[in-house]
Amino acid sequence: MNSLEKVPTHVAFIMDGNGRWARQRGKDRIFGHFEGVESVRAVMEASVEFGVKYISFFAFSEENWNRPEAEVNGLMELMMDTIHRELRTFLDNGIRFRLLGNRSRLSKKLNDAIDGLEAATAEGTRMTAIVFLSYSGKWDIRQAARRMAEDGGSDIEDYLVTAGIPDPDLLIRTSGEKRISNFMLWQLAYTEFVFTDTLWPDFRKEEYRNALLEYASRDRRFGKVK
Ligand code: IPE
Ligand code: IPE
Ligand code: MG
Repeated sequence: MNSLEKVPTHVAFIMDGNGRWARQRGKDRIFGHFEGVESVRAVMEASVEFGVKYISFFAFSEENWNRPEAEVNGLMELMMDTIHRELRTFLDNGIRFRLLGNRSRLSKKLNDAIDGLEAATAEGTRMTAIVFLSYSGKWDIRQAARRMAEDGGSDIEDYLVTAGIPDPDLLIRTSGEKRISNFMLWQLAYTEFVFTDTLWPDFRKEEYRNALLEYASRDRRFGKVK
């Protein structure tokens, strides 16, 4: 992508609109989630090509546990299948996989699969792809505060699940909703936001490139005077 003078180090996605995408086609919501995985793969491969170093995907929030049981189970199974099916995508592209969230709410089987993919891809150096599962920003701040108090620590950033990962430079949310929905509340303090009406299953490389061009045109001041 030669025309980009400023490539963000870390891009985060709130992948929204899978259910509406399916409904528009007269299908069950889960079909939208299946197709959404295709967008995740396309965006991961494009990110490596564009030179992005960290990419974050909000896959399931703490609040999403309140959805109908069939959808929740379908999403957890899809996560499990995707972990098994996409190992090659990670290895072929030199991508390291991380999963962040409230792991105590996930099944033992899923936790084992996550550990397996994290270990298998630990040597990936071109990019780190982070999936946020059973994550919410308030949960993260609460667990960080609790552990910091236990430890007698002083910097909350060391205790957030994202410790060691640079804050997102750019957040992209699909489906026309313009809210954070309890994603990384602390870490998004100075992030640039791009909102698009495109539903997540339709979000692919060309639109991603446009969002990066939009990012490159932004003037980030971080509260200072330039
Ligand atoms: C995003 O799509 C995926 C998850 C939150 C799991 P949605 O499932 O929220 O789709 P809409 O917003 O209902 O269309
Ligand atoms: C945000 O989408 C969470 C994820 C993408 C995982 P939601 O569909 O859950 O958000 P709301 O309910 O529209 O705010
Ligand atoms: Mg939604």
